[in-house]
Amino acid sequence: MKSNHRLYLDNAATSWPKPDAVYDAVDRYQREIGAPNGRSGYREALQSNRIVERARSGVAELIGAQDPSRIVFGFNGTDVLNIAIRGVVRPGDHVVTTVCDHNSVLRPLRALRETADVSVSYVPSDGHGFVSPDDVRAALRPNTRLVAVNHASNVTGAIQLIEEIGRIVRESDALYLVDAAQSLGHVPIDIREFEVDLLAAPGHKGLLGPLGTAVLYIRPGVERELQPLRCGGTGTQSEVDRQPDELPEKYESGNHNLPGLAGLTAAVTFLHDKSIDAIHAHHTQLTKRLLDGLRTIASVTVHGPPTTANRTSVVSITVEGYDPQELAAVLESAHGIQCRAGLHCAPRMHESLGTTATGGTLRISPGYFTTFQQIDAVIATLQSVASVVSTLRVP
Ligand SMILES: Cc1ncc(COP(=O)(O)O)c(C=O)c1O
Repeated sequence: MKSNHRLYLDNAATSWPKPDAVYDAVDRYQREIGAPNGRSGYREALQSNRIVERARSGVAELIGAQDPSRIVFGFNGTDVLNIAIRGVVRPGDHVVTTVCDHNSVLRPLRALRETADVSVSYVPSDGHGFVSPDDVRAALRPNTRLVAVNHASNVTGAIQLIEEIGRIVRESDALYLVDAAQSLGHVPIDIREFEVDLLAAPGHKGLLGPLGTAVLYIRPGVERELQPLRCGGTGTQSEVDRQPDELPEKYESGNHNLPGLAGLTAAVTFLHDKSIDAIHAHHTQLTKRLLDGLRTIASVTVHGPPTTANRTSVVSITVEGYDPQELAAVLESAHGIQCRAGLHCAPRMHESLGTTATGGTLRISPGYFTTFQQIDAVIATLQSVASVVSTLRVP
């Protein structure tokens, strides 16, 4: 397919396209630098050091973290969530999470349930995908070690009240992990404004960086509770075979994804220049156009918040008469519209929405570069697709 026929609406999986500066930075690293960071003293190695430093300070600034060493890099959202979850949960602990959470949270917890006698409570959501902070409070137990909450759902787009939940968690002895995979880069996040111990996000979604990048913010002091998932060479304290205690090295063993971090640095600069507030406003307008258009099609059901309030631009739908996979195939083959269909790695979310039996939903996830014309094209296509089914139904 010609790229100009590609209408990419799978930005919740990974954002595309990226800002030109991201491509340029990756290309420049690969062609002109090509050296590891933190290990050698020659010119290109020092350039690599600067790439990592700039990526770290750029992300720190974006989320209001005063100390960039509190930002640890990983390889995807799943990786940094595993670093957080497996690093703090011990045998016999209790963990609270929500039905809205992604398998990147649910599966490590399931594994801990099966191997480490860990118990897990799953806080329910309402019909639009919102969790009540009171239900989080009710789920806490004396041995709750961790509360892991999805900030914005990759199925419904619903944004949870993470500040209020943070206040509740702070009254207990538990640590608070926020999965910001679908929110960082989309909505303003300032870790100074709410109680959070660990905040995890990929660099390749809303942050607009390359695949193979992710960030974990660690609140001061939490490193005493957080065991490293991986140990190995850090380029520091090479005289000892013990993992360093210093941040970020404690959690960053092995060579970095330098091309990815070069791209992430450029992406974060792009986000700073545009401002997250403006990006959020743009996404909200796109979402409004999409929701307004979907409302005109009788056979479409939106699974998630019906208005732009407290939601991101991720919109999940079902269309009467269509299996979501079939619908995705029709949209792509006839019109080049690329969406994801199915359960989106969030099985409990679909159980809660009642969409498991229908094969999940079709997820439309616009990105920063999506245009209003593209949204209109999707609506027009869905109108014609829906009318085919209703015509076939006429006796
Ligand atoms: C809410 C949520 N958490 C975690 C992840 C995992 O991120 P990654 O694909 O970078 O591993 C995703 C990915 O879609 C997600 O939507």
